[in-house]
Amino acid sequence: MPKVVINDEEFEGAEGDLLLDIARRNGSHIGFMCNGNGACSTCECRVISGAENLSPLSEAEKAWLTPGRLEMGMRLGCQVGLDNNNPNASVVVLTRVEELRRLFFKFLRGTPEGETVLEGNLISFSIRVTLDHVVMGPTGLLNSVNRLGIFKTLVPWGSDFNVWLNDGLKVFRRMTGRTTSYTDAIDVIEIEEAEEIKKD
Ligand code: FES
Repeated sequence: MPKVVINDEEFEGAEGDLLLDIARRNGSHIGFMCNGNGACSTCECRVISGAENLSPLSEAEKAWLTPGRLEMGMRLGCQVGLDNNNPNASVVVLTRVEELRRLFFKFLRGTPEGETVLEGNLISFSIRVTLDHVVMGPTGLLNSVNRLGIFKTLVPWGSDFNVWLNDGLKVFRRMTGRTTSYTDAIDVIEIEEAEEIKKD
């Protein structure tokens, strides 16, 4: 199976898997405010290598990402999928939320060993993200309304709200230090779920 490295952690994927789905399955630090509907851009990822193993740009990505961000290798995790089933294929990405987190800690105490070293700094990165999204916000939102309709653009979770919330909590637990690895995070959640079932 192709390998997908998200924020320095390696996972397996299959052709057609979206980067966001792989990240959510494994509790990776990624944004997904609109639940993968291409209506928020919080799932933005920087493709560090393996772009040739990914699906072509979607209309939503063209609407949300400036030419400058595309040149930087940015894609929307909920729109881009693996386009290669070769077991030797690999893709390496860093999510925008994790890049921001790392820049914040780099600013405070330097880059920890084992983490992808980033160029730039927190302030310039934040200003650029904000400006790019102010510029592309109107076209991104228009594209979302055209594809999804106004109601789903404004309330994108629908009946998946519980799944969205649980996946968000899984990421939150990892990022707040309750667990140190994605497998631990999944174990904790499974134990808690089993305990709740027992109580019922
Ligand atoms: S999760 Fe909102 S655009 Fe991808």
